[in-house]
Amino acid sequence: MKGLFIVFEGIDGSGKSTQLRALQERLRQHGIDPLAIREPGGTPVGEQIRQILLERPWGMEPLTELLLYEASRSELTRTVLRPALEEGRVVLSDRFAMASLAYQGYGRGLDFTLVQKFNRIATDGIEPSLTIVLDVPVAVALARKREAFDRLERAGREFHERVRAGYRELAQQMPNTLLVDGTRPAHELAEQIWQRVYERVRGGR
Ligand SMILES: Nc1ncnc2c1ncn2[C@@H]1O[C@H](COP(=O)(O)OP(=O)(O)O)[C@@H](O)[C@H]1O
Ligand SMILES: [Mg+2]
Repeated sequence: MKGLFIVFEGIDGSGKSTQLRALQERLRQHGIDPLAIREPGGTPVGEQIRQILLERPWGMEPLTELLLYEASRSELTRTVLRPALEEGRVVLSDRFAMASLAYQGYGRGLDFTLVQKFNRIATDGIEPSLTIVLDVPVAVALARKREAFDRLERAGREFHERVRAGYRELAQQMPNTLLVDGTRPAHELAEQIWQRVYERVRGGR
């Protein structure tokens, strides 16, 4: 695979979209046009699944939720991500498989090996070149996003605490992962992330 695959992870309000946009801009300044994708979504099927997951007012079984995320991921991987990486593009993603481990594993309590199994199927063996985990306290994240209360954000404080703790553990365990303090000013974070990405861009990936 010739391309570079960079994933942003973290709870809602941790600053993923902000940092993804900043990195996209930096890459453009260096003559690289990255492809930005998001999860769930990024394909016609995936965007429909996104609506089911984020906008519908009723609940669902944790396993159903996992399978919907994995279905969206599988479609995105096979129709968008793999072709882009094979073309040699830089792909930036707002969340990927680590999110299912954090949310459905740590958050909802689904069996970890089960989540890993579905992740492997959906990602078709593709692993991020670099994952940036933005770590912020839940209270900070919720205060930042008070206006945008979707279903997951209403899920409650303890759920988000488990997800945050999960991301911190995953950041220690997973290869090619950078855990950053998301409470720092956005421009400082963008600089820290750029230093790490630039090594990869310059170093022939
Ligand atoms: N480092 C930061 N410090 C303070 N506020 C931030 C920082 N990064 C992002 N924000 C603000 O927090 C809110 C959520 O950021 P966003 O990038 O949308 O997070 P996410 O995509 O992870 O949900 C936005 O209003 C954004 O402007
Ligand atoms: Mg976002």
